Amino acid sequence: MKPQFENKVKRIGVLTSGGDAPGMNAAVRAVVRTAMYRGIECVGIRRGYSGLINGDVMRMDASSVAHIINRGGTILYTARSEEFRTKEGRAMAYRTCKLLGLDGLVCIGGDGTFSGALALSNEYPISVVGIPATIDNDIGCSHYSIGYDTAANTAIEAIDKLRDTMQSHERCSVIEVMGHHAGNLALYVGIATGATAVLVPEEPWDFEEHVAEKIRNARLAGRTHFMVVVAEGATQKVSSDHGGENVGGAGDQVAKLISSELGLDPRVTVLGHVQRGGSPTARDRVTATRMGYKAVNVLAEGGTNRIIVHEGGKVYDVDMVEGLQMQNSLNPDEQAVLTAMTQSY
Ligand code: F6P
Repeated sequence: MKPQFENKVKRIGVLTSGGDAPGMNAAVRAVVRTAMYRGIECVGIRRGYSGLINGDVMRMDASSVAHIINRGGTILYTARSEEFRTKEGRAMAYRTCKLLGLDGLVCIGGDGTFSGALALSNEYPISVVGIPATIDNDIGCSHYSIGYDTAANTAIEAIDKLRDTMQSHERCSVIEVMGHHAGNLALYVGIATGATAVLVPEEPWDFEEHVAEKIRNARLAGRTHFMVVVAEGATQKVSSDHGGENVGGAGDQVAKLISSELGLDPRVTVLGHVQRGGSPTARDRVTATRMGYKAVNVLAEGGTNRIIVHEGGKVYDVDMVEGLQMQNSLNPDEQAVLTAMTQSY
């Protein structure tokens, strides 16, 4: 028999905001179904905070979230709203909440999404809970963000295929992966694909130290193909001897130097937005479902300004202000492992 719940909220909204991530749909589904389980009404807000401002909403029930646990993207659509950054925009957003009788919001996205939620709840009487979802996995307070595992596996599959052709032609492949500010994905994927070198935004690269030496050592050890993984936001150290002309993206810049300094004929592949799509992996579906469930329970029990986090196999909530202050950093164990794997000749 279903237990009786005492809920502090009666009707909540759910939205997805910022860059989409595989597993967002699974999180939306879990929010809706947990709300139904507890006897809380749930409204879907389309296009993130823009939808909240414009009253772009849909009623959510079991049928609106049927057959979406396996789908990439977000059925609620997503957007980045400049208007919501203004007081006027947030006033309009709150008007929608009032009109709809919403007393809680589940905001699924990244840091920007949570900052927006916090600004709204600081100004108006509405409870907010954030769920981390970004393929960058760069939310400082959570070890894991929904979408990361799927994106990593998509990149790994592509890089494995590239390796086949690079090996056949004895070539060098430069693969640009997503990550403007965070190198988590590049580092993780680099380890998983046995990359020759990995470049991340957190550490400006020096061509000799971070690329050339590694390729030369691999060559001396008899390797005839090389895989260099570059995060799109990786930048060259200013003091580098090999001043690369800033052409194209990060991958192009590295490839140009590999060609001019090492005499190789590299091929550049930019994986781009393909990494954001696709059916979520088991890890993303289950984590999203656990986080969605937790988010509704937190709101129902009177929580506000909370971020749901994942750490050490546990899902729990932390204070949003404190959570937002925590800086993302690369996993030191992964960095150490990569160093050993790329210098073991
Ligand atoms: O989702 C995160 C992210 O993929 C970053 O790695 C990337 O730089 C950015 O979003 C690009 O997003 P968009 O093309 O939607 O602006």
